[in-house]
Amino acid sequence: MTEPELVVHFTDADAARQLRADVRAGLTDVPKWLSPKWFYDAEGSELFERITALPEYYQTRAEHRILSSHAVEIAEVTGASTLVELGSGSSEKTRLLLDALRKTETLREFVPLDVSESALRAAVTAIAVDYPELVVRGVVGDFTTELAALRSGSGRLVAFLGGTIGNLLPSERAEFLSAVRAALKPGEWLLLGTDLVKDPARVVRAYDDAQGVTAEFNRNVLRVLNRELDADFVPEDFAHVALWNAEQEWIEMRLRATRPMTATLRSLELTADFAEGEEIRTEISAKFRHRRVREELDAAGFGLHRWWTDDAGDFGLSLAVAR
Ligand code: SAH
Ligand code: AVI
Repeated sequence: MTEPELVVHFTDADAARQLRADVRAGLTDVPKWLSPKWFYDAEGSELFERITALPEYYQTRAEHRILSSHAVEIAEVTGASTLVELGSGSSEKTRLLLDALRKTETLREFVPLDVSESALRAAVTAIAVDYPELVVRGVVGDFTTELAALRSGSGRLVAFLGGTIGNLLPSERAEFLSAVRAALKPGEWLLLGTDLVKDPARVVRAYDDAQGVTAEFNRNVLRVLNRELDADFVPEDFAHVALWNAEQEWIEMRLRATRPMTATLRSLELTADFAEGEEIRTEISAKFRHRRVREELDAAGFGLHRWWTDDAGDFGLSLAVAR
């Protein structure tokens, strides 16, 4: 086994600088918002893994089922020599692709990229042990600002799984897809997971589970701010809110102040006042239709080559080629 490599493109100093700018912008805006990127410290990454196993959170199981059925075809069609995974987290489902690509004997390198160093470190360590024939090169990075893992190469398959693209706003999504396309050569591949529009009540339950794990995940962003920005939020004084926005076809997660309060963020020399009931938007999670995915891929310079869903039609997986 070759020792896995971990390249840090998003240093603690970068993270601190961006966090400061982001939080100042979000908490002085009306209405207030925070970027979902900041959920994922070690605790947040663990909470997300717990979410993936919840009975209400169908996405991970649905995408797993699609990959189980089609990973061999993906490996045969792409013949990838490098698998790049963006927002890779634990890379658990990715093992289905790695197994299939092991059979086609084309894959040489696996490059997972994530902002969460703890999740990435655990993933590259485990994958290097189980796939000793691969060069495993983890990149701590932000997929919205730099696609460092994609700077060079050929024969690449870029996987962006879990529906994480839905956490970007439409304009950010278009920019992101164009940046991925610009980093690839014609004939290279993108594998994109998207959660699909369905009964809103089911979607809301997936973001407001009975055990309250998603609520803790949501409040975790305040714990990150308390630690990193010397702030004094009382996370328990914010109620978890998951709302279906029918016009935009996305879920919004919010944190609602249950009493009037003022939070002080000492290292930003900022105070944020909250009226009772005032909310901070912490995440959107867009749900897609086949046509929208095809059109957005097309606009970014990708041709949709294959489209699969699970039997229930809950989740979509697109295999697209760079034109
Ligand atoms: N792909 C995995 C994990 C999805 S959770 C799955 O399908 O289960 C979303 C992942 O994206 C987390 O690991 C989080 O740390 C990462 N992430 C969120 N915003 C990011 C950003 N801007 N750049 C890089 N990684 C990001
Ligand atoms: C990572 N992302 C696709 C998850 C989602 O479903 O939007 C994050 C999440 N938020 C609440 N639960 C899970």
